[in-house]
Amino acid sequence: MIWTILLLFNVILFFLLFSDRTRSKREPPLDKGIIPWLGHALDFGKDAAKFLTRMRMKHGDIFTVRVAGRYVTVLLDPRSFDSVIRDTTSLDFSRYAQILMERIFGLQLPNHSSDKEKAIMRRHFHGEGLASLNDTMQRNLRVLLTSEMLPDQTDWKRDGLFNFCYSLLFRAGYLTLFGGEQNNNKTDATNVYEDYRRFEGLLTKLARKTLKSGERQAVFSVRQRLWALLALSGLREDSSLWLRDYRRLLREEGFDEETQRRALLMQLWATQGNVGPAMFWMLAYLLTHADALTAVKKELSRVTLPGGVFLDPKQPTPVFDSTLEETLRLTAAPFITREVLQDKTLVMADGQEYDLRKGDRLCLFPFVSPQNDPEIHPEPEKFKYDRFLNADGTPKSDFYKGGRRLKYYTLPWGAGRNGCMGKQFAINTMKQFVFLVLFHVDMELCDPKSGIPGFDTSRYGFGMVQPDREMFVRYKLKAQSRIH
Ligand code: HEM
Repeated sequence: MIWTILLLFNVILFFLLFSDRTRSKREPPLDKGIIPWLGHALDFGKDAAKFLTRMRMKHGDIFTVRVAGRYVTVLLDPRSFDSVIRDTTSLDFSRYAQILMERIFGLQLPNHSSDKEKAIMRRHFHGEGLASLNDTMQRNLRVLLTSEMLPDQTDWKRDGLFNFCYSLLFRAGYLTLFGGEQNNNKTDATNVYEDYRRFEGLLTKLARKTLKSGERQAVFSVRQRLWALLALSGLREDSSLWLRDYRRLLREEGFDEETQRRALLMQLWATQGNVGPAMFWMLAYLLTHADALTAVKKELSRVTLPGGVFLDPKQPTPVFDSTLEETLRLTAAPFITREVLQDKTLVMADGQEYDLRKGDRLCLFPFVSPQNDPEIHPEPEKFKYDRFLNADGTPKSDFYKGGRRLKYYTLPWGAGRNGCMGKQFAINTMKQFVFLVLFHVDMELCDPKSGIPGFDTSRYGFGMVQPDREMFVRYKLKAQSRIH
């Protein structure tokens, strides 16, 4: 026993004396936290926004923190983001992405060509390919919404708004991109949605390796079920051309069936994980801000196709766009992470230079700045649907920090080479969805006094945040609505 204690003592001493790092003058302020090795991991995982805001007050716009043995430099000055986003030589996106891919999806894709994958994505999510995906998505949304509520039904239905939005958009997106059982479309998509939500509920713990043993079993078995449910996606005629091309690429690259299914689950997450939560927040804000609801309704009622039943996708919608941008400003919180491949000097917008060490990580968190920075967006905690509109109703894009006009005044879609590939499809989908709900559904809050939910703070860094509780609504199809 005494030998074990002595050995442990020596290991800790060695650790503290030799492995502990000190800051050199040219490096960003270093904050290791008081717990050896772990550093700030607990605070970071519990509420990254609160923790990083506190660090920013203490150290300024750039600092390095120790998180579970790794050193992460956090940059919170949006004027200097380009020096990170544009540097694809010293800073690497894929290594950390691969670590997460393995932890979350049990997936390794050695020698996979991400350039070919992106080219396939571009082919189908832009231009003509996009127009056809929009049509299919619009049809699926309409069918699901109407099958949700029978046209002759006069009673209200009750559901959580988060589940209402996520379930509808997920199933419509799944049917559009992944396809469904020909003879039983609805059940198939519903099964996938339910298992997906169980999986996603534990996804952040999978990524951080903080699962308890019961949770580990649960998440592994639901992941297995999802792999099985996705087995035929991209092989069947009813899958989108995008998914069929993607699966063909994986086959040509020599990946076995098992690996292909794991990759499909990752694509399911990338394509379906953000739109539902984003629409929950947008409807939640609209239902609690009458001025915004009136303005969006007024605009959308003017941009319909003849007959007024369908939205004309070609018409500009600055009010809707501003409302969406404001929603995403408040609720999109991805980390933009890069691995430092070689020692590098980061030149900030104010000319200040900082040395970064090879092997460290660099992280941008636009949720804190620019998105919630009071210098850029006054009263950042408030929802203002017209924040991105000029007085004459045109889109507003001039925002400033330190007297300098900003290129990145919000950053919900990421940026550069690794920015969102599905942005336009997502925007079209969301516009369609809001139109359908506002014009074909009567919807009311069950408890208007309870207000908008708070954030599940453990999800910062993983795209759209999710609410910490449900917000219940009652809804029914409008009497005059017969949408087929
Ligand atoms: C509100 C909706 C959405 C938001 C806020 C969003 C946001 C993002 C962000 C921030 C990234 C960059 C992630 C990173 O840097 O690690 C990203 C990547 C990506 N998104 Fe989206 N996204 C949305 C919807 C969609 C949709 C509907 C699709 C496709 C149908 C899609 C496809 C992708 C793909 C394929 C990538 C990976 C790009 C790469 O690896 O280089 N996204 N998205």
